[in-house]
Amino acid sequence: MTHETPVIEISNLHKAYGSLEVLKGVSLNAPRGHVISLIGSSGSGKSTLLRCCNLLEDSQQGDLIFNGENVSWKGQGHQRRPADAKQVLRIRTNLSMVFQQFNLWAHMTILQNVMEAPLTVLRRDRAEVEQAARGYLDKVGIGDKCDVFPAQLSGGQQQRAAIARALCMEPEALLFDEPTSALDPELEQEVIKVIKDLATEGRTMMIVTHDMKLAADVSDHVVFLHQGLIEEQGAPDQLFGAPKSERLRGFLSATHAT
Ligand SMILES: Nc1ncnc2c1ncn2[C@@H]1O[C@H](COP(=O)(O)OP(=O)(O)OP(=O)(O)O)[C@@H](O)[C@H]1O
Ligand SMILES: [Mg+2]
Repeated sequence: MTHETPVIEISNLHKAYGSLEVLKGVSLNAPRGHVISLIGSSGSGKSTLLRCCNLLEDSQQGDLIFNGENVSWKGQGHQRRPADAKQVLRIRTNLSMVFQQFNLWAHMTILQNVMEAPLTVLRRDRAEVEQAARGYLDKVGIGDKCDVFPAQLSGGQQQRAAIARALCMEPEALLFDEPTSALDPELEQEVIKVIKDLATEGRTMMIVTHDMKLAADVSDHVVFLHQGLIEEQGAPDQLFGAPKSERLRGFLSATHAT
């Protein structure tokens, strides 16, 4: 592994649900320190791509490579599964996911939510994890909310707690699936600020978003998915400023209209 090795390499990935082909051969790299945004219409396969990436979904063909390490598979086609459970765990714990609906544990305090996976999955030392968890909650601006339950927080605060929870795993990369779309516009901004700070810090991130301004502001590279294929990709200036594909132009004008 050299420092040029991408954190995530996706090569010719195919994924179907039964006979519904959702990803039809997608290739994509997330180099270390880069932010990649995935945009595209509803149903184009954005969430599926993210979920295949951290092995929450099986895929039928193509390669997934993490830090230069190929996922090893057994079986073929719809029977294809990851062959090495330890490898799956290693990859999954290194690609922390942040979901649209936060997915915090309702019965745990914010601090307990952030500490849970590092303690139970990584079996790290409790005192160290607590110190780190408090640090990450401070970092996302809710250090004073350690002892309350998720229901006592605003959506924006809950999403920031979910980001602190992802960070506390000390992952190689963060995967965001529509992190701001469940939020009111004013709460959205506080989450966007946290994501921008993480980008500035040089975190490797893949972000599925409907927010073209967020994609334009934070990304090194933007990927437009259309019906399970990459229709166009490039630097944000190019993609938003001078889109080549008719479909992307249509998508962007529809997005701006709403
Ligand atoms: N578990 C599933 N079983 C069957 N089909 C599914 C499943 N999950 C997704 N799909 C289908 O796969 C396609 C791609 O879905 P996906 O969620 O990846 O789209 P998306 O680009 O994230 O859309 P959105 O912007 O609405 O979130 C859709 O046609 C969807 O109905
Ligand atoms: Mg989605």
